[in-house]
Amino acid sequence: MRLRKVPGSREKAAASPLVFAEDRATAQQGKWAELFGRTAPLVLEVGMGRGRFLATVAEVQPENNYLGLELREEMVVEALEKAEPLNLPNLRYLWLNAELLPEIFAVGEVDRIYVHFPDPWPKSRHAKRRLTAPAFLKRYSQILSAKGELIFKTDDEPLFRYSQQTFREEGWRVQEEYDDLPLEKSGVITEYEGRWRRHGKPIFFLRALPPLAAEGAAEAEATEQ
Ligand SMILES: C[S@@+](CC[C@H](N)C(=O)[O-])C[C@H]1O[C@@H](n2cnc3c(N)ncnc32)[C@H](O)[C@@H]1O
Repeated sequence: MRLRKVPGSREKAAASPLVFAEDRATAQQGKWAELFGRTAPLVLEVGMGRGRFLATVAEVQPENNYLGLELREEMVVEALEKAEPLNLPNLRYLWLNAELLPEIFAVGEVDRIYVHFPDPWPKSRHAKRRLTAPAFLKRYSQILSAKGELIFKTDDEPLFRYSQQTFREEGWRVQEEYDDLPLEKSGVITEYEGRWRRHGKPIFFLRALPPLAAEGAAEAEATEQ
């Protein structure tokens, strides 16, 4: 995503009650339902960019609580500008690095994670920054509930092939995969998905369940015997 420094973005993000930077977010660990004032499925988008997807789903699927995570303050501010007029009680933002996820959520606190069109980081020396690198998948599996799931979309085929491998190597149970996801199966689309579809690019898609915890794996094995 093009980087343009916008003066005043840090101050605006820091001043908003809708935005949780590292200190406020870690203080909320295990207590996100309290913040939203209700127990409801907790849905997280990692690397939300300008937040178009979340502003839409939070409105059309009010039964869930939503958190959008983003590193760059300019993006957080653009997401805020979309959300503020909507005044949605079920949408908040995390302004921090996804590396911190295990400090932000208790084990099993999140029900669904979206990773939409993350930066591909094609050079192997940057592979650790990919949001589907093994270290990130471990963080996601720690915070996802036993019935949780992760949805990943990209326009970048090399990143998709790499990710298919990392999900499997990390023990995730892949439920659905598409090399060219039909629009009618896509649901609400993100800013990037809209852009790549307009350019006629195929959209790669994967939905996976986290690795079974030791006791779950033993149970599954016993049922199979
Ligand atoms: C290419 S954009 C995609 C935006 C949006 N998901 C979409 O589909 O339109 C990827 C976003 O991920 C953010 N990002 C990359 N690495 C991150 C990290 N480690 N933690 C939080 N956000 C990150 C970037 O700042 C960027 O805004």
